[in-house]
Amino acid sequence: MHTPVLLDQVIKALEIVKDGLYIDATYGEGGYSQAILERGGKVLGLDLDQDQITKGLDDIVLVQGNFGDIEKIAKENNFFPVDGVVFDLGLSMKQISQSGRGFSFKKLNEPLDMRMSLKTEMTAKYLLNHLSETELYEVFARNSEEINSQKIAREIVIKRQIKKLDIVANLINCIDSAIGEPDNNVYKRIFQALRIQVNEEFENLKNGLLGATKIIKEKGKIAVVTFHSLEDRIVKKFSKFPGLKLLNKKPIVNRRGRSFEKSAKLRLIVKDIL
Ligand SMILES: C[S@@+](CC[C@H](N)C(=O)[O-])C[C@H]1O[C@@H](n2cnc3c(N)ncnc32)[C@H](O)[C@@H]1O
Repeated sequence: MHTPVLLDQVIKALEIVKDGLYIDATYGEGGYSQAILERGGKVLGLDLDQDQITKGLDDIVLVQGNFGDIEKIAKENNFFPVDGVVFDLGLSMKQISQSGRGFSFKKLNEPLDMRMSLKTEMTAKYLLNHLSETELYEVFARNSEEINSQKIAREIVIKRQIKKLDIVANLINCIDSAIGEPDNNVYKRIFQALRIQVNEEFENLKNGLLGATKIIKEKGKIAVVTFHSLEDRIVKKFSKFPGLKLLNKKPIVNRRGRSFEKSAKLRLIVKDIL
């Protein structure tokens, strides 16, 4: 069982009540779900990736689905109104190291797939080989704010005329040619930007937060753990909607977060009386 970095802080903030209803919107390996069940809460676990929900915990409703559809999924399963929702964004270590879908810049022979759900039609390979230079630049700049986005987009368009990009090594090769030397931070940002695009992560987050407010009780809490400053910005902006408030002005931060990211940030949104 995986222990998420901000587990204690999230569980404390959610103030789990016995027989209360909670949605773990990013089930993964079930770290939050297990902690909620141990405290007597009831859990609906949700994950976009079918491979993440093969081993369910006892007494849990487990659904393969997109948290962008959280309202619909909760209603279909007659699991609402809920006391709390937790979103732990991004990928699990298992997905990065074992999925074989090209999420990590270190797995040179993996295909440039990057889909969290194999039901998604878009792949990183399609984007890299079909978007125009401007479109590629926009994907990189918008999703990662990488300063070399323009040069990298240009290099991809030049290199793909000779041979289509197919595996991770091909993209690394384009980045190296564009920036002149290997740089893990640039690789990380470009890979993350592509993954965000393939899986429409920012749109899903906005829809997921909105959906969560529709199925949560008054005074219910939404805990969101982000690993990306642009995601944190979306959460912060969302919390300013009427009827919502942030429990802490500043996010709770874990600087020892996953090695491939700077830090994990926890924000807590509470549904106030409208
Ligand atoms: C950081 S991991 C969660 C780890 C989890 N808290 C644990 O204890 O193992 C993020 C999970 O969210 C899932 N995910 C990402 N986007 C999703 C979405 N739009 N809808 C549902 N699940 C999603 C990923 O497939 C991954 O399993």
